[in-house]
Amino acid sequence: MSTAVVTGGAKGLGAELCRRLAARGHDVVVADVDLDAAEGLAGEIDGAAQLLDVADAKACQALVDGLPDLALWVNNAGLLAVGPSWETDPDRRRLLFDVNVHGTMNGTAAALSRFIPAGRGHVLNIVSTAGIVPAPHETVYGATKHAALAYSVGTQMDLFIRGHKGVRVSALCPDGMWTPMLFELARDPDAWPSWSGGMMLPGEVADVAMKVIDRPRIVKVHPRWRSILRVGGAFPGAIAPLLPAIVKDAKRKQRKFAEREGL
Ligand SMILES: NC(=O)c1ccc[n+]([C@@H]2O[C@H](COP(=O)([O-])OP(=O)(O)OC[C@H]3O[C@@H](n4cnc5c(N)ncnc54)[C@H](O)[C@@H]3O)[C@@H](O)[C@H]2O)c1
Repeated sequence: MSTAVVTGGAKGLGAELCRRLAARGHDVVVADVDLDAAEGLAGEIDGAAQLLDVADAKACQALVDGLPDLALWVNNAGLLAVGPSWETDPDRRRLLFDVNVHGTMNGTAAALSRFIPAGRGHVLNIVSTAGIVPAPHETVYGATKHAALAYSVGTQMDLFIRGHKGVRVSALCPDGMWTPMLFELARDPDAWPSWSGGMMLPGEVADVAMKVIDRPRIVKVHPRWRSILRVGGAFPGAIAPLLPAIVKDAKRKQRKFAEREGL
C-alpha cells in the first residue's frame, strides 16, 4: 500500500478526499492544524493523524522524510477572506498567502524531493475557480489562488523540461462547495462570489479529484462549464459592465440557498 498525505484533510473537501483515498487502499495521513479533528477522521478511516501547519516548510519536509512509500501529496489546506481587497487587514492577507500560496509551495517542494529521485509520484493542488478569474469580493483569496495555479502549472512544465515524466503535478479548480469554509458566510453579503455558479457538495469534487489522480491533468476546472470564467480573466474590461447583473444573480442564488437550508 502506498501513502497519501492530504493537507487540511480533517474537514470539508479534505475529509472527503481522505475517505476516498482510504477506500482505495492508501495509507492516508490526515495532516491538519486541527489535530482533534484530524484524529477523529483518522480513527474513522484507519489512517494516521498528523499535526501540520502547511506554512511551515520544515514541517512539510519532515513529514515527507518520515514516509518512505509516499505516492500522493494533496495540497488542500486553504483559507478564505471575503470583501473588497482594501478591507482585508494586513495580517489576514499575510495569513492567506502563508497558507494558500506558501503552503502549496512547501508541500509541493517537499513531496518532489521524494518523487523526483524515485521517478514517480503525484502532487494534486486544490486551487479554485478564483484561480482562473480574479473574483471581486474574494479578491485577496483570488490573488492567492492565481499564485497557486501559476506555481502548479509552472512546476509541471519544469518537470516536463527536466524530463521527469513519471512525476506529475495537477491543479483542480472547483467552484463553490458547501464546506466549513462557507458555513458562517451563507448570509454574508460579501460572500456572493462563492454562490455565483451554484453550490456543490464536497463529495462531488472529491469524486472528480479521484479521476484526476487516476489521470493527471495540468488543470482541471469543475464543473467544466465554469471554464468560461477564463474569459473574464482575459478580458476584464469587457466583463466590467456586466458586474451589476453578475452580482445580482449571485446574491439571489446565495439567498435562495440560505432559505432552502434554513440558515
Ligand atoms: N469551499 C469552497 O467553496 C471552495 C471552492 C474552491 C476551492 N476551495 C479550496 O478547497 C480547499 C479545501 O477547502 P474547504 O472548503 O474544504 O475548506 P475548510 O475550511 O472546510 O477546510 C480546510 C481545512 O484546512 C485546515 N487548515 C487551515 N489552515 C491550515 C494550515 N495552515 N495547515 C494545515 N491545515 C490547515 C483546516 O483546519 C480545515 O480542516 C481549499 O484550498 C479551498 O481554498 C474551496
